[in-house]
Amino acid sequence: MKMTAKRTLAVLIAVIMLFSCIGISGSAEGDTGFDAIRINCTMYGDSQTQRGFTWFTEKKCDTAIQIVPVSDYKASGFDNAIQFDGTVSEWEDYFCHKVVATGLEKGTEYRYRVGSADRDIWSKVGKFVTDDGDDSFSFIAIADVQASSLENFQQAALVMDAAMKKDKDAEFVINLGDFVNDCTNDEWNWYGQAFEKANTNLTLVPVAGNHEGNITNKLNVGWFDTVFNLLPGEGTTNGINGTYYSYDYGNAHFTVLNSNDMYPMTEAQRNWIYNDITSSDAQWKVLLLHRAAYSAGKNINKPDTLAMRETIIEIVDETGVDMVLSGHDHMYMRTWQVAGDAVCEDTVYVTEKHNGVDTTFAVNPDGAVYILPSTAGTKRYGVNENPIDPIMDCADVYFTTRSEKNENGVETNPNAGGCFANVEVDGDYLVYRAYVVNDDTQKVTMVDEYAIKKTVKDGDIEDAKLPTDFIGSLDGTVANFFTEIFGLIFTYIGKLLPQIIGGLF
Ligand SMILES: [Fe+2]
Repeated sequence: MKMTAKRTLAVLIAVIMLFSCIGISGSAEGDTGFDAIRINCTMYGDSQTQRGFTWFTEKKCDTAIQIVPVSDYKASGFDNAIQFDGTVSEWEDYFCHKVVATGLEKGTEYRYRVGSADRDIWSKVGKFVTDDGDDSFSFIAIADVQASSLENFQQAALVMDAAMKKDKDAEFVINLGDFVNDCTNDEWNWYGQAFEKANTNLTLVPVAGNHEGNITNKLNVGWFDTVFNLLPGEGTTNGINGTYYSYDYGNAHFTVLNSNDMYPMTEAQRNWIYNDITSSDAQWKVLLLHRAAYSAGKNINKPDTLAMRETIIEIVDETGVDMVLSGHDHMYMRTWQVAGDAVCEDTVYVTEKHNGVDTTFAVNPDGAVYILPSTAGTKRYGVNENPIDPIMDCADVYFTTRSEKNENGVETNPNAGGCFANVEVDGDYLVYRAYVVNDDTQKVTMVDEYAIKKTVKDGDIEDAKLPTDFIGSLDGTVANFFTEIFGLIFTYIGKLLPQIIGGLF
């Protein structure tokens, strides 16, 4: 008995020691300070051959990424991977690592891992696909996660998960801005943690929101340009308050604006947008910006939005943009076809089967459709009952996605939930659909659909070739500033006074 007790004790101690070792070893490996966090893969110039990558570490180390086509990865892991080295810089108590991968093969699915080659510490395996250049692809769009707790980031990530399940073939995700609320390290860590799956399985197209790069918003300058690795358009403001950039994907051209630079907009950005859109002969032209020109939310009546509308509507009309996607107002709205700040009344709609589904298409329409796909987050706004003219005239669909439960706790708003949008581009057809995800059950419900059929190519638009260098266009920029300011005062008086007076009665 005595021997048995000793043996049992020895085995017990051995088992405890073994588990202790695993515990120590496990925690040491997971907490070295060199582990990559906040990883994302972003569109960077040529969507067929390049991607940008960013991640952070707590301690300084070298910067490397290994990339390999999925077929090679299945055969031999990262043994035959291409390695790209990058840069590291200190940012707000962390170290920011950036790499640009070039020379990729078009239409190829890749696996990658980021980390330190010197220390042989690597992240989990991520993936992305390069554009194959044909005219059939799809993407996801979300807006305004703007969370300030891990719980709320995780709730928003459920919406993103639902979007990825709904469209398993989506090739990239557009985030229309306001990723976080206050740009603290905690918030970016929570965002990185909750959105890890999305940011390491899809190419991200980030749009600068006022919560991550606006000098008037708690001086959160520099964050957007640090957290994401993007190829800036000419004349962009050196990473202070956001970046504007563009890319082609399939038969579409995407122009991503910095609406933190719009009241008034610098002449450099305005000219760059004209140059960028008019120099593309893509069949579809999509404009992405954080602030919405058409919204029945609370921000539509504010001076910064009025200033932005003055500029953007004119640009959209003159350059032949087809679709404008925005955020900022945390409610859902989609316009009819709009040009000159008015509905294109003569738009022809036909219903036909597309991919086996009856779909109503605007046929070769004039103007653009402006869409605000509410928010994927939990901070949701109601409908503004008194927006400036002609918002309600131009609106086809608008509603709040806020939860409205009765006294028995039963949801009474059929559109309540986190929102995501999905766009399929298929040659001459573009089909947009919006969905809400129930907060409790994650049930996905389609809440809107809009489609365009475009068999006639846009007429030739003269390539603008305007100066985008800030110094080179300084005279124009100063003149533009004063013109805009006076224009704004008149706009503000003209638009808001009737609206304010109207609200009194
Ligand atoms: Fe915003």
